[in-house]
Amino acid sequence: MNSTNIPSHSHGKDFVGRNLFDLDDWSAEDIQVVLEATKIMKEVNKRDYKKLPTLRGKTVCTLFFENSTRTLMSFELAADRLSADIVRFSANASSLHKGESLQDTVYTVDAMGIDLYIIRHSYPGSPQLVNKYTGKPVLNAGDGPHAHPTQALLDIFSIWERTGTLKGLKITIVGDIAHSRVVRSNLIGMKKMGAEVTICGPSTLMPGYMEEVYGCKVEHDLKTALKDADAVMGLRMQLERQSEGLFPSLEEYSKLFTLSSETMKYAKKDALILHPGPMNRGVEILPDIADSKQSVILEQVTNGVAVRMALLFLILGGKM
Ligand code: CP
Repeated sequence: MNSTNIPSHSHGKDFVGRNLFDLDDWSAEDIQVVLEATKIMKEVNKRDYKKLPTLRGKTVCTLFFENSTRTLMSFELAADRLSADIVRFSANASSLHKGESLQDTVYTVDAMGIDLYIIRHSYPGSPQLVNKYTGKPVLNAGDGPHAHPTQALLDIFSIWERTGTLKGLKITIVGDIAHSRVVRSNLIGMKKMGAEVTICGPSTLMPGYMEEVYGCKVEHDLKTALKDADAVMGLRMQLERQSEGLFPSLEEYSKLFTLSSETMKYAKKDALILHPGPMNRGVEILPDIADSKQSVILEQVTNGVAVRMALLFLILGGKM
């Protein structure tokens, strides 16, 4: 593939008009096309003049019912870079507070002429509902604890661009597995791309079905989980869950599960450090490792713009 030739299909399946609810219905070949297209978009983002005219005339709507910094801003920047119009629905400033339902809200927004939706909602399955109500392609920007596929794609890209492949890589994901949509989408995507994934966390934050459903290894001892890892991802400790008594105290959690220069000695010497953000420094990760040379945490944010440009380009039928 070169910069003038991003394919519009993968193994006979067209990207145009597709939904991205999660990575389970995107094949390894589809993901590979997204990675290659992201690489091209990243080059575009390095130019002095970063804008492409390719999606001129298309309208993208961001429907965010939950807070976001990275995902919302990077999707809006991605649409802008490709010259699409962007309509932002902000739950706090909307008529939801006057009792309007999700269905009526979506019908109302759709009457304005939207070509593609990006939704974040606490309800798992909300992207499918928006697709059902509108018939337009929908990208899932996080639906409750279920899935966050664009985050997984940017995580996979951040590793792939450094290593050239995920085949045979040992990737360890540490933290609050139970409440993480990031880990679920990453497990599906990373496994499809050939990685061996180990997940690690306290047993109260580790659903019993993970090994069987996702084909990953489960560890409760951090040092064992990190042994010989090529890449390590910390997950946000969802502090709002503390009241549920799922772990005794943050101090105790940190003692056992914090990623630090000390614990990272068990991983490979130059293992990549990832975190989807937002980070709780001092809880799941210490600054000595979050800000280290091994860390690609800010690179993940940079890559988030490029991966979302690639997805909008493919799904809305952009041409280079
Ligand atoms: N990683 C992630 O989804 O971050 P935001 O909540 O800031 O979008």
